[in-house]
Amino acid sequence: MRRIAVLCAVSLIGLSAPVHADDIEKGKEVFTQQAQPSCTVCHALADAGSSGAIGPDLDELKPSLEQVANAVTSGVGIMPAFNESLSPEQIRAVALYVASVTGGEK
Ligand code: HEC
Repeated sequence: MRRIAVLCAVSLIGLSAPVHADDIEKGKEVFTQQAQPSCTVCHALADAGSSGAIGPDLDELKPSLEQVANAVTSGVGIMPAFNESLSPEQIRAVALYVASVTGGEK
């Protein structure tokens, strides 16, 4: 029981750790370059200068950090899962980036 509580606390901290400018910068690189196919192909995001229209406009959607992390990890609809091509750190960085530049990070 105790062990489960500790694990939950750790994973919550992992997602809600203070946002560092470095992480945001890394997340932007994941969004624009490292993810294959690039998020920019399918999503509009003003901060990244992208206007892909296959997926939702992220500036309008304003997804939460968790929503981005889940979508990128497991895929949604025709959006591919990136859990085999991106590391957990890269997924966390891109989630932080998208949530913070769209205001989804509360
Ligand atoms: C091949 C096109 C494609 C690529 C590449 C892609 N997406 Fe998506 N994405 C979509 C589509 C389509 C949806 C809507 C899926 C649905 O609702 O059925 C979506 C949905 C989302 C959502 C909303 C999830 C929700 O909870 O509604 C987020 C956030 C997102 N994508 C972020 C990203 C990020 C970040 C990347 C890059 C790592 C990425 N996407 C790459 C097509 C793509």
